[in-house]
Amino acid sequence: MLNFNFYNPTNILFGKGQMSELDNLVPKDAKVLITYGGGSVIKNGVLANVKTELAKSSREVFEFGGIEPNPKFPTLMKAVEVARAEKVDFLLAVGGGSVMDGTKFIAIATVADDFVGREEKLMTYGFAPVPVSSAIPIGTVVTLPATGSEMNCGGVVTYGEDKLPVFSPYTYPKFSILDPELTYTLPAIQVANGVVDSFVHTVEQYITYPVKAGFQDRTSEGILQTLVEVGKQTVDDPTDYDARANLVWCSTMALNGLIGAGVPQDWSIHMIGHEMTALFGVDHAQTLAVLTPAMWRIRRKQKKEKLLQYAERVWNINAGSEDERIDAAIHKTEEFFHSLGIKTRLSDHAIDATGIERIIRGLEKHGMVALSERGDITLDVSRKVLQEAL
Ligand code: NZQ
Ligand code: ZN
Repeated sequence: MLNFNFYNPTNILFGKGQMSELDNLVPKDAKVLITYGGGSVIKNGVLANVKTELAKSSREVFEFGGIEPNPKFPTLMKAVEVARAEKVDFLLAVGGGSVMDGTKFIAIATVADDFVGREEKLMTYGFAPVPVSSAIPIGTVVTLPATGSEMNCGGVVTYGEDKLPVFSPYTYPKFSILDPELTYTLPAIQVANGVVDSFVHTVEQYITYPVKAGFQDRTSEGILQTLVEVGKQTVDDPTDYDARANLVWCSTMALNGLIGAGVPQDWSIHMIGHEMTALFGVDHAQTLAVLTPAMWRIRRKQKKEKLLQYAERVWNINAGSEDERIDAAIHKTEEFFHSLGIKTRLSDHAIDATGIERIIRGLEKHGMVALSERGDITLDVSRKVLQEAL
């Protein structure tokens, strides 16, 4: 096992009716800015419930709606202006990954005095934490299980044609309310996206090379098997509480640092996927469904041991040569994504050879020229993966 630091301070309140804790969680005298997306939380009543709970103490409450999927810098800067003008001292994100990520940016940018007028620089630090020493505290009420943003300190912000990471130890949410019932109104495709995103977060930290990390491996396999068990069920039957509850908890656990501690991590599928979203507007999870099988086909040698372990422990594939077992596991994974209604080819998203070159240029521009757990995915290898996915 590799050395690691594990730090995660987020208080999780899981289950039916946990919204009633809100009044105890947000400081009673806070100036709160509620952030939300394009209006789903107005339609399904979640925002109204949040406001009722906050009104139980003498807080000042402001609202900022309109944070779009793949949150955009100019939109977030409008929220920063509100937060500065009203001297907001608590942010409450009510929504999915985009709202939570956007709120993390707002939390940093509002108080980053050294960056006033050039807040876009907060997003240019690649994988290093943003160089700030504080952020406004954040809480979240999660309405879409997918990203794990509710229990990690990272976010992704769209800046023109770039999707850039923002993270800082100051942006772990203080608390997150995870009531599976708040997710019942999601369209089936968003639930399917959530299953795939959680699945691929897990494999980015698991299908690398073995380091004898038994707990991390077994926990990853548990998450993957649970997602396989409940994935289709929770897409087809959105109000099956237990199926949805399992998806919600798997999503959080897949990206809160637990399974990634002490093991090599890949993330090349995500990095190539972010270029696809930025350039072609493909939903985040759908980029991952296209790239995962293709990545494994191209990287079968480098990932051989873990692919075989995945075949055996997640899919019970024990028969055949090593290559046959790996092929069967990749095929099972594709079938699983298809069963959720998610496509797995670039051509399903109308991306052709010219599109591949645009993605490669994006990777080059962002310095993504030595990806993966081994740092050996050059632009040429990324091109091969994309060609495999055509
Ligand atoms: O905007 P509204 O009207 O709220 O509608 C949203 C949005 O259109 C809708 N929705 C959310 N909850 C709903 C609902 N509709 C009905 N009922 C509900 N209960 O769902 C749509 C998609 O929402 P979004 O937040 O964009 O989806 P998701 O949670 O998948 O987040 C995607 C973003 O997260 C980033 C992605 O890159 C992308 O920008 N990621 C963040 C990560 C992190 N912070 O650690 C890691 C991920 O790998 C990912 O990169
Ligand atoms: Zn993801």
